[in-house]
Amino acid sequence: EQIEKGGYDHFMLKEIYEQPSAILDTFRGRLLSNEAVIKLAGVEDNMKKFLAADRIIVVACGTSWHAGLVAEYIFEDLARIPVEVEYASEFRYRNPVITEKDIVIAISQSGETADTLAAIKLAKSKGAFVFGVCNVVGSSIARESDAGAYTHAGPEIGVASTKAFTTQITVLTLMALRLARAKGTMSSSEFRHHLIELETIPGKVEEALQSDAYVKTVADIYKDSKNCLYLGRGFNFPVALEGALKLKEISYIHAEGYPAAEMKHGPIALIDEQMPIIVIATKKGHYEKVVSNIQEIKSRKGRIIGIVTKGDVSVKELADHVIEVPETIECLTPLLTTIPLQLLSYHIAVMLNKNVDQPRNLAKSVTVE
Ligand code: G6P
Repeated sequence: EQIEKGGYDHFMLKEIYEQPSAILDTFRGRLLSNEAVIKLAGVEDNMKKFLAADRIIVVACGTSWHAGLVAEYIFEDLARIPVEVEYASEFRYRNPVITEKDIVIAISQSGETADTLAAIKLAKSKGAFVFGVCNVVGSSIARESDAGAYTHAGPEIGVASTKAFTTQITVLTLMALRLARAKGTMSSSEFRHHLIELETIPGKVEEALQSDAYVKTVADIYKDSKNCLYLGRGFNFPVALEGALKLKEISYIHAEGYPAAEMKHGPIALIDEQMPIIVIATKKGHYEKVVSNIQEIKSRKGRIIGIVTKGDVSVKELADHVIEVPETIECLTPLLTTIPLQLLSYHIAVMLNKNVDQPRNLAKSVTVE
């Protein structure tokens, strides 16, 4: 097992560090930026269906559901296709309205999650076209889908999902861009610009990983917290949810993710000098609004950890700590802001002596209902 961990103390840390190469593997043969082309066989072969679809319904569980939420923002923004994101377990039991003009995208690392599998069987029985985004090749969901695209993240052993999440977002971004081009919702120069930026992401993830030592010092300060709040807006709202999930899963600290502007409708009541609040406040994307959310937290004496764009000034003045990520276009920021949140939960769990790779009560793949 030590050999399999490749010199890392835990699979989770190894998998966090594998993300630059995992994302490159996801790109391979699909992102051809020199030719300004995206090739995804599963999308290409079914382009007519995608172009005729009234909406996309994403079904997934856990971290994969969070990737689906990021996809909702990206598909709607770039390709102007309405997207609904459903917990597979809710979708399958509530007599959902599904038609032949719907495309259901099932996202699953393992491809074996019972609720997601049942949800796509239901969707197929109603005539919807099912597209699988799975990591495990030949898995049940991959086989049951009409078409799909693998994430190619390589085996993920740590129960808390890391590289599966970022590669799911990568595949879904490629899909959204391809469809945006096909639908004409994006100009060729915008498209080219997105491809060039996307290509820089593995290097920028590598750069984001360099905050590791600093994130560890932050983890040491907050490791004994009983509660934690994660806030983000727009593309980074789902990242806030995912950050909170990572902390819960492996450190057993209660954490909640919230859209930053919703803070005033509840969570603000929890804020006191004991409460760490992790705020994703990257440049662009409602930055000024997030800064004013941070001011509200500060005036209530909450302890602020900002995830900011490199060179940020405004948040630095207000926050107790800032963790920088490289700059990129707004829709790609989740691939970078996720990194310090993964590292933060990892270090806290290690410091609390928790079983990082196999947290209590959780399973890597939930094959029962
Ligand atoms: C379990 C795992 C999570 C995962 C979820 C969905 O809860 O512990 O890490 O996100 O299942 O799994 P899937 O394989 O369908 O992505």
